[in-house]
Amino acid sequence: MDIKPQIGIRTDPSNPENASYLIRLAECLNLPVADPSGPEFSYVLALQGSRLELRKQADPKTAPLSADFLSGAVYYRFLHDRRINQPLAKAAGIKSGYRPTVLDGTAGFGEDAFVLASLGCRVTMIERSKVIWALLTNAIYRCSENDRVKRIFDQRVTLKLADTIDYLRSTEISYDTVFLDPMYPSSAKSPLNKQKMRILRDLVGDDPDGSELLAAALKRATKRVAVKRPARAGSLDDREPSFVIKAKSSRYDIYLVS
Ligand SMILES: C[S@@+](CC[C@H](N)C(=O)[O-])C[C@H]1O[C@@H](n2cnc3c(N)ncnc32)[C@H](O)[C@@H]1O
Repeated sequence: MDIKPQIGIRTDPSNPENASYLIRLAECLNLPVADPSGPEFSYVLALQGSRLELRKQADPKTAPLSADFLSGAVYYRFLHDRRINQPLAKAAGIKSGYRPTVLDGTAGFGEDAFVLASLGCRVTMIERSKVIWALLTNAIYRCSENDRVKRIFDQRVTLKLADTIDYLRSTEISYDTVFLDPMYPSSAKSPLNKQKMRILRDLVGDDPDGSELLAAALKRATKRVAVKRPARAGSLDDREPSFVIKAKSSRYDIYLVS
C-alpha cells in the first residue's frame, strides 16, 4: 500500500546502534532519512529506547503512534480475560477443544490477532502498510521482555508484509478462519482510540477494496470468514452474513463456507 503522507526516518546521531537500525529500516521501507535541518515531514519514524514510534512532526502534542502488547488494555486483557466465549473468540470459531487456524488479513496493531493467539490459535497476520508493519514488527521484537507473551508470538504467530487480496489469490495454504477488520467508514465509531484511529486513517486511508478482500477470503477460508464491523454499519459489500455476533461497540458478521 502506498504511503500517502510524507514520512521520514529520524535517527539519533548520539546513539549509533539505534542509528544503524533506523538506517537499515529506511532502506527496507524505502523511506528517506529525515535531516533535522531539512524540510519537515508529516510524520517521522523514530526510536524511543527500543520502541519504534511514528511522530507527527508538525504537531508534537499528538501522542506518538506505536504498537504494543505489553501495556495498556491489550496486556490487561491478556492477563485477565481468557474467556473462550468472548465475542471475538466465538467469531473466530473457537470452541472447547477446538482452535481454528486463523488468517488475520487486516493485522493493523495486531490486537485481535494477539487475543486469538493467546487463546491457542495459530495466526498468520498480514498487513500491507509498510509503516504499520514496521511498528508491529518492533512490538513483537519487544515482547522478548516477557517470556509468556514471547512464547505466544514465537510458537503461534507469523507476520507478513503483503496485500491480503494478492496473498489469498496466490497461496496454497488453507485457513479454517479468515478474520477481517478493514477500516470503517469515517463517520462510524471505532474501538481503537480516536487519535490512534485518526493517524491510522491518515496512513492507510479507508480500505475501499473491502469487497474484493471479502470475496478473496470467501474463496480461501475452509470454515468461515469473520468480518468485524461497527455496531450500526451495514455489512461489507452489503453481503448478508450467515449470522451475527454482537460485541460492545462492534459486531462480527460470520460467513460460513462449509
Ligand atoms: C482497522 S485496522 C485493523 C485493526 C486490527 N484488527 C487490530 O486489532 O489492531 C485495518 C488494517 O488493515 C490493513 N488492511 C486493510 N486492507 C488490507 C489488505 N487488503 N491487505 C493487508 N492489509 C490490509 C490496513 O492497512 C490497516 O492497518
